[in-house]
Amino acid sequence: MRAKEKAKPLDGNAPPLEGLSDYARDARLGALAPYSRFKVGAALLTVDGEIITGCNIESATYGLTLCAERVAVFKAASEGFRKFSAIAVVAGSRKVTTPCGACRQILWEQCGDIWVHLTNLGGHKKTMRLSALLPEPFDKSFL
Ligand code: THU
Repeated sequence: MRAKEKAKPLDGNAPPLEGLSDYARDARLGALAPYSRFKVGAALLTVDGEIITGCNIESATYGLTLCAERVAVFKAASEGFRKFSAIAVVAGSRKVTTPCGACRQILWEQCGDIWVHLTNLGGHKKTMRLSALLPEPFDKSFL
């Protein structure tokens, strides 16, 4: 496992941190995915350069499974982190794995329009803003 270390803070419009995917790749190794055998890792970057990782955790009831992205977001939120700039997601799929609909919603509500880096184990990469993955989101602005 990579040591918990601080990444360099990003300046205003700096490009998203490249190495973030390495943290997600390491986190993936901790996945508890005995049913699907599909391991996923995520690494969330705060505006201050902290990195919080997550992996998917499956349930025998299937439906209670948590994706790597939500594990990372909930870990970060419960530790008091509030402002984020990017998330990296790594899986072993042929195409890069995109966050599921539930994760897109939770990411939007907790992180806003962050950068999303998607990478597979073969090195295929895609980077986009969360707003491209979740256009016209429902959130607290409607309430
Ligand atoms: N999964 C994630 O952790 N993140 C994604 O972006 C897609 C799917 C997990 C959930 C489940 O444990 C397994 O991958 C198969 O769906």
